[in-house]
Amino acid sequence: MNNHIFPTDKILQRADKEKLLKQKGITIWFTGLSGSGKTTIAVALEKELQAKGLLTQILDGDNIRTGINNNLGFSDVDRIENIRRIAEVTKLFVNCGIVTICCFVSPTEEIRTIAKNIIGKDDFIEIFVNTSLEVCEKRDVKGLYAKARKGEIKDFTGVTAPFEAPLNPAVELTDGLSIEDSVKKILDKIKL
Ligand code: ADX
Repeated sequence: MNNHIFPTDKILQRADKEKLLKQKGITIWFTGLSGSGKTTIAVALEKELQAKGLLTQILDGDNIRTGINNNLGFSDVDRIENIRRIAEVTKLFVNCGIVTICCFVSPTEEIRTIAKNIIGKDDFIEIFVNTSLEVCEKRDVKGLYAKARKGEIKDFTGVTAPFEAPLNPAVELTDGLSIEDSVKKILDKIKL
């Protein structure tokens, strides 16, 4: 009967993988409004990390909500389930020694705490992309703010659903900062 139990003690451990890759697994968790620049900054950051020889993986709405989470919407319950699954997937990557870069609105303290608790606080670095609602709405890259204002999308973060600023992010990036300076600020803070 025991041979059906997952042999946790026999499989290769995180330390073995980190030794192979010559790097440490970590999560860089971006939070901020839709259109705040999370993914844009993450892409630029990933390029820098790759140049340093680090193995990375970006997770964001496009590769998660169209795949593993394609049955979830934006109710409070679905957002929690979205982030719970994402955090579990992130933990798998981190346990493989990979620098995992997550870009999700993750709008509430509760949701971010769920992610942090699943991943583990020592492996969780929170980056607040603090671009104002005004700027995000002016950009409106996907046209979603206009739809939300017209009532065509309900529970839209920043318009008809809340966004709670993180209380103590490792890094806060504000409106005026260029992509390059944002990446630099992150790299200065997290020595990888
Ligand atoms: S989260 O709140 O559950 O963390 P997530 O980051 O996965 O959100 O997805 C946010 C993206 O979904 C936004 O950038 C936007 O493109 C799209 N979206 C569609 N409907 C909504 C909505 N009601 N609120 C926020 N974002 C939405």
